[in-house]
Amino acid sequence: MDNKTPAVTMRNITKRFGPVVANDKVWLNIYRGEILALLGENGSGKTTLMNMLSGIYFPDEGEIAIDGKEVVIRSPKDAFDLGIGMIHQHFKLVDVLSAAENIVLGLPGKLDLKAASEKIRAICEAYGFEVDPNQKIYNMSVSQKQTVEIVKVLYRGADILILDEPTAVLTPQETDKLFAVLRNMRNDGKAIVIITHKMHEVEALSDRVAVLRHGQFIGDMPTKTTNAQEMTNMMVGHPVVLNIARPEPKDPKPRVEVKGLTVRDIEGTLKLDDVSFTANSGEILGIAGISGCGQKELLEAIAGLDGTREELIGKDPLSIQEMGVSLSFVPEDRLGMGLVGNMDLSDNMMLRSFRRGRSVFTDRKTPHQLAETVVRDLEVSTPGVSTPVRRLSGGNVQKVLVGREIASAPTVLLTAYAVRGLDINSSYTIYDLINRQKAAGVAVIYVGEDLDVLLELADRILVLCGGKVSGIVPGRGAKKREVGLMMTKLGGEQAHE
Ligand SMILES: Nc1ncnc2c1ncn2[C@@H]1O[C@H](COP(=O)(O)OP(=O)(O)O)[C@@H](O)[C@H]1O
Ligand SMILES: [Mg+2]
Repeated sequence: MDNKTPAVTMRNITKRFGPVVANDKVWLNIYRGEILALLGENGSGKTTLMNMLSGIYFPDEGEIAIDGKEVVIRSPKDAFDLGIGMIHQHFKLVDVLSAAENIVLGLPGKLDLKAASEKIRAICEAYGFEVDPNQKIYNMSVSQKQTVEIVKVLYRGADILILDEPTAVLTPQETDKLFAVLRNMRNDGKAIVIITHKMHEVEALSDRVAVLRHGQFIGDMPTKTTNAQEMTNMMVGHPVVLNIARPEPKDPKPRVEVKGLTVRDIEGTLKLDDVSFTANSGEILGIAGISGCGQKELLEAIAGLDGTREELIGKDPLSIQEMGVSLSFVPEDRLGMGLVGNMDLSDNMMLRSFRRGRSVFTDRKTPHQLAETVVRDLEVSTPGVSTPVRRLSGGNVQKVLVGREIASAPTVLLTAYAVRGLDINSSYTIYDLINRQKAAGVAVIYVGEDLDVLLELADRILVLCGGKVSGIVPGRGAKKREVGLMMTKLGGEQAHE
């Protein structure tokens, strides 16, 4: 980097939430014409630090300077006035309004939608966005909504942009598009900060990385001079093995057969359309698809979880091959379907809900002992097994959930978004657990949103698109681009919503 004045200088920033020190004397520079990746495990303080730039939190200690001048940022409006815009993980758009209406919402002065639309078109043209100013938000895909959020920030004149885990909700193609736009903005002299857990994205996009650990600034360096291994070690504080193993399945035998499965929701909308496949023992079958393509319905149908059971159409659409099959389901909603937040770890060990299960405790351990085993084996960070589950962090809750399902010695394990929002270290612990289940002969059905991980972990990948199977490909040698295309197109045709 050259010696130009940073767009943002954060000096000695400390932020506490009660006893938690979310940021501990952090120093950070952000430059124009640069994309900075802000890295750190879950809870390391990334969002908090950036929220002090966007005016959501105010530091307890330390100073912030913009272009070398010390500033006080008390509100999101102060941040906008300084040219700082943040795209949060959860969008804040009004569904019934159009893109243009959302973009100008809250701005002072007379509302001139025509002029606004012109300006929006100009911004889109300059950076390569595709937004129809007149389209209503409720008609938009997640990626289109995100684009509106970005245009909204640019419309207000932001030249310092912060994106908090923007790719968590995007397909690979959408991510590529976003990155192209971010590069255009960088080349146009804007300062960009991106928070992401995905190392290949950091490597593909950023010019520099900065690492936080337990609220402290650990270091920064040009992306070219580092690699995924070094960055991960810095985030975690000790060496971490970054390979996902994929042993050849041993003696795979059909265990779950799905034939012509069709599911409609309560309103009668088709969610799964004639889905057929086989899941084998000792194998990981990955399910890929964009959000809303039917993965959730598929898992719920197999687990027999809810009212959809009555709506299954077709003769015997599900058959489970062996007697005494025990099905485990690690749902996407950790503190809803999976675990009860107010109950402690031990009590949660007794709760399981699925269709065909043997008795829960095949190893006849008491729930208390089982909870202690899970905590020890999976390195769950908790004061004890009597702690209410809601007090644990997301990664630890997920470990408890997976640990509990595995403890029941299932022969089929279903997992939905097992690592959603988890940092790299917790994610690898979960991959390892899943691989150990495969090695033990379990038929694993893994629904995941990180295509890179699916390509490394799964023996076969079933791709869903609009409720239909657009293909089943071997995991070894599968091409990301091709699978990505199958996620959005059926046999070359545009899929229906
Ligand atoms: N509003 C809040 N109230 C209390 N604690 C918070 C709040 N926001 C964040 N924290 C805590 O601060 C720490 C850092 O959180 P966060 O900045 O969200 O981390 P990251 O974005 O890196 O995952 C965590 O321990 C988190 O629980
Ligand atoms: Mg965060």
